[in-house]
Amino acid sequence: MLLKTFPPMGVYETLFKFADATAKYMGDAGTHPWAQGFPLTTQLPDGPPLPTSVAITSDDLMYPKADGQPPLRQAIADYYNTFYDAGITADNVAVFAGGRPAIFAILAFLLEGTTVAVESTEYTPYWDVLRLLNVPHTLIPSNVENRFRPAGSDYDVEPLDGTSRVMLLKSNPCNPTGVATTGSALRELVEKFSAPGRGALIDEAYEFYLDPEPESALRHIDDIDATDIFVVGAATKGLQVPGMRVGWCIAAKQHIEIFRNYSSFGMGGVSRASQLYVTQLMELERVRQARAAVGAFFTSQRNRYAEGLASLGLELFSGKGGFYHWARLPEGLTGDSVNELLFAHEAGILPGRLCDMSRPAGGGPSSLDNMFRFSFGPLSAESYKSDMEILRRVF
Ligand SMILES: Cc1ncc(COP(=O)(O)O)c(C=O)c1O
Repeated sequence: MLLKTFPPMGVYETLFKFADATAKYMGDAGTHPWAQGFPLTTQLPDGPPLPTSVAITSDDLMYPKADGQPPLRQAIADYYNTFYDAGITADNVAVFAGGRPAIFAILAFLLEGTTVAVESTEYTPYWDVLRLLNVPHTLIPSNVENRFRPAGSDYDVEPLDGTSRVMLLKSNPCNPTGVATTGSALRELVEKFSAPGRGALIDEAYEFYLDPEPESALRHIDDIDATDIFVVGAATKGLQVPGMRVGWCIAAKQHIEIFRNYSSFGMGGVSRASQLYVTQLMELERVRQARAAVGAFFTSQRNRYAEGLASLGLELFSGKGGFYHWARLPEGLTGDSVNELLFAHEAGILPGRLCDMSRPAGGGPSSLDNMFRFSFGPLSAESYKSDMEILRRVF
């Protein structure tokens, strides 16, 4: 065999175990997909409808532009300028086939001699990408002791030996914890990582999912062309279309050129049909309605499930963002042992160890073994009773 073997990303590891145990795909009708990271793909109360078709011409069957189709890049720039006064142009936008490909490309092109600083509890695939690309990285403590809320001073990270620069890699709101850095704390973070020799990849996949309102680092960046800051967004969660595979990166123009060049040999652009579809979703009045509807619906779901999970005696550490609860299990239980019980009910959660950025490759104990992530993203308002019934039985 000529290829390096590499295991599936943690969420998929759980999905495959679920499929082995139940002969179903988590998310199929009748299953309880609490490990899944996808949102409802149906119209929300007071939300805009999701178009059921997209018209294409023979021009749309041609190759796409390497950095994204101009109308979509412009719509994305207009979006950030309208809601966050970002002061960007379409030249600051590169379109990718989802959020993860954008993250992968940014980290793949990091200059050698750069230390990545990442919170110790973070979005599962960061662990895979840092390992695969062999990027030197250092951990910012995010644990039970600080309630998964690092202090501002925890981000004062020095480069590791043999490196001279630091790049922060951070999901905000954080997956899995839902903790969000907003307002003046976000401004300070942006300022800290705008200094020479500093940069940041701020992953805003859950931008819309934040109580009381969406937030973006772009509100606090005065001139992105003067920074090494990369803001990643996607149509996946906020616009409720994970299947369209459209994401983007907002960055300095010189960085966007690198992504264009990368796309020219490594990606070949993104499906034009998907880009057309997402361009419709970004129409400003529609997106305004979508932001409000996502916020209202998922805040109410977050609150309901917080009450339900707490009533079972589970200790919650969740913030006010994302569509997850981040909870500690009673003494002696692990996420994996709970899944054994949940699989019998065609339900499953994400074991906390899969969000541990310091976990050893190939398994072994993790400080997050007794934590789990409960997703309410794909759940309809009607499933609450049956969800709680299963949880009550298992706990
Ligand atoms: C923190 C975070 N970033 C980015 C993404 C992007 O996902 P995708 O590649 O599906 O657009 C996700 C999806 O789960 C996420 O949770």
